[in-house]
Amino acid sequence: MRKRIGILTSGGDCQSLNATMRGFAKAMYRQEPDACIYGFVNGYWGLMYNEYIEMTPDQFSGLLTRGGTILGTSRQSFKYMSEPDENGMDKVELMKGTYSRLKLDALVVLGGNGSIKSAQLLAKNGLNVVALPKTIDNDLYGTDLTFGFHSALDVATYAIDCVHTTAASHSRVFIVEIMGHKVGWLTLYAGIAGGADIILLPEIPYSVDAICRGIARRRSQDHKFTIIAVAEGAKSVEEAAMSKKDYKKALSERDTTSAAYHLAQEIQKSIQAEVRVTVPGHMQRGGSPTPYDRLIATRCGAAGAKAVKDGKFGVLVVFKNGKTTTIPLEETAGRLKTVPADHPLIQEARAVGISFGSEDDD
Ligand code: F6P
Repeated sequence: MRKRIGILTSGGDCQSLNATMRGFAKAMYRQEPDACIYGFVNGYWGLMYNEYIEMTPDQFSGLLTRGGTILGTSRQSFKYMSEPDENGMDKVELMKGTYSRLKLDALVVLGGNGSIKSAQLLAKNGLNVVALPKTIDNDLYGTDLTFGFHSALDVATYAIDCVHTTAASHSRVFIVEIMGHKVGWLTLYAGIAGGADIILLPEIPYSVDAICRGIARRRSQDHKFTIIAVAEGAKSVEEAAMSKKDYKKALSERDTTSAAYHLAQEIQKSIQAEVRVTVPGHMQRGGSPTPYDRLIATRCGAAGAKAVKDGKFGVLVVFKNGKTTTIPLEETAGRLKTVPADHPLIQEARAVGISFGSEDDD
């Protein structure tokens, strides 16, 4: 019997979605030459509303270096997945309907945290789901690595590199805001790779005083500029101590939603130096995947096809100690992989004099 597989890309895009689909399709066609792959348009939306492309093998060619996603993506919040759509239709039933109408044997979901929760919901509803770990944030629980992370790291590091030369020329303090949602992996890696002097992560609440002292210390050592890499989700000690509700309120009362601009206002009150802010934003998700990311993407795709062949469903493909394997969706769904405060990279960064903006750094 011809194998019939659905595939979709969900949530925020990244550079290596196409490369991963290519890896999956190439492996799939090798194991099942007459497999039929249906690509759902714009993520779960296409699965809900029967919008798909019946793919041909040639459509998966030439994708290794192509950023974005040829299928399109959308954010379909998990929070509203169990609520009816604007026409009063049950979204899960709509997706189940498309899956059974197309007589699919499996559904492959390329997604991050929210998308994985929805994948688990579908698995619980009887769909044969294989999820592949996508996100520039590298925050999926249970996997050492996600595809997208290394390409974003490249862009974020390049942004810090560029800022370095201009900061030095003008003897300025520069704050570079790095994506990563609620976790600090991208900022930690890019901050170290880009030679940032101060790195601020959501996992290590910062003290404005400690940051200002760090800047003053550099000046006293005749370093005229300071580069601060701040994660978009970084919080001060005071903010970290707030309840979720109070923190939300505090955020809404700020005159900027940007962690970097907010920090610039805060430190500018205490130091004389000129402070500038750079936010590379979605550039971090754009362009071509790096060679390493293409490798990760190809491996994830091949591992996904193997899971389909082996009939391993309700799973996420993960990297563990350099190898690909799978874990049950319930083991990862709804859990974040945050940066442990005692992570070796943090210790090594401290050893070379990088500050994390906390009182412990003094
Ligand atoms: O999860 C990827 C990510 O780029 C996060 O780093 C960031 O917080 C978020 O998506 C931005 O989302 P959007 O593209 O919807 O603005």
